[in-house]
Amino acid sequence: MRLTSIPRVDIAHLPTPLEPAPNLSAELGGPEIWIKRDDLTGLALGGNKARKLEYLVADALAQDATVLMTAGAPQSNHCRQTAAAARKSGLKAVLIFAPYSKHYGSTDPDQAPQGNLLLDNIMGAKIEWYQGDWQDRLRFMDQVAADLRDKGERPYVIPGGGSNAIGATAYVNAVYETITQLRDNSMTATHWYTTSSTSGGTHAGLALGAKLAHAPFAVVGSACDQNAEKTRSVVLPLANATAEHIGTDVRLAESDIVIDDSYYLPSYGIPNEGCLEAIEIAARTEGLLLDPVYTGKTMSALIDHVRTGKLTSSDVVIFHHTGGTPALFAQADGIAGSFSGPDLD
Ligand SMILES: Cc1ncc(COP(=O)(O)O)c(C=O)c1O
Repeated sequence: MRLTSIPRVDIAHLPTPLEPAPNLSAELGGPEIWIKRDDLTGLALGGNKARKLEYLVADALAQDATVLMTAGAPQSNHCRQTAAAARKSGLKAVLIFAPYSKHYGSTDPDQAPQGNLLLDNIMGAKIEWYQGDWQDRLRFMDQVAADLRDKGERPYVIPGGGSNAIGATAYVNAVYETITQLRDNSMTATHWYTTSSTSGGTHAGLALGAKLAHAPFAVVGSACDQNAEKTRSVVLPLANATAEHIGTDVRLAESDIVIDDSYYLPSYGIPNEGCLEAIEIAARTEGLLLDPVYTGKTMSALIDHVRTGKLTSSDVVIFHHTGGTPALFAQADGIAGSFSGPDLD
């Protein structure tokens, strides 16, 4: 296996802390809970993409790129971290956005940009608004890349979420990193809760890493944008492509990709009651800020699994904080009224 020899640049703050959440555990009356703080990866407010971008930027630099290009929603955490990774590496950034997503932060030209989009602007990313069908965006990206080449630039195109075998490799490493932290704390864990999406790189890398490292924990993905079947149909092949990329013969089967899709509706990006409750509980027990698109829903899965007895007090659970908190500000209008008042009058 060539995992340790794959080139990567040093742009994330690693290892991220693995910290206990005793107040949250006590509040739920269930398992011991630890938080893997990938919201603290350091790249312009952190998040899970920083790990992937270490490998993607190394590949871009090897190809002598001058521009990182990627695509997503206007509140994409991935796009924000790609812009930051580009700047930190002396490159420019071009971001392709779907024009308007009413549930995921306004992009009304008459309103000041919010959350991630504001940060993209501050970092000087060039933003291209794509008006067509999102499924056809690759053709549009090809056109933008061709225009950049005409101007003498050398664009490096990163897929949505940084989720290809190069990016997902980072989450194989994250498993080894965490197992070392568990050993350092003389502890073990039974579960690792993460967010599972149809970009899929994080879950794919974690599932592969867990199998390769014979991790003591089961990786449990909480779907954030599609049902389990659709999500698995992306995560599984990506995990196996990543296995090939890092040079192992190990392959994953469907049963290795555990996904619970009970917590993401009504849809991607729209927080439900459980999500808002989870955001409030994490904030008030641990001062831990979750986001309304990914981690709030994944924490609501964990909370419900405690309440329904799927997780018991003999379990030790790692909750994977993958970042995303800038979306709290982008969604302030929709969510601010959902939280209860202060404990003190
Ligand atoms: C905060 C956060 N968590 C989880 C995910 C899902 O990660 P992946 O794209 O690797 O599936 C994303 C994707 O953008 C994210 O921004």
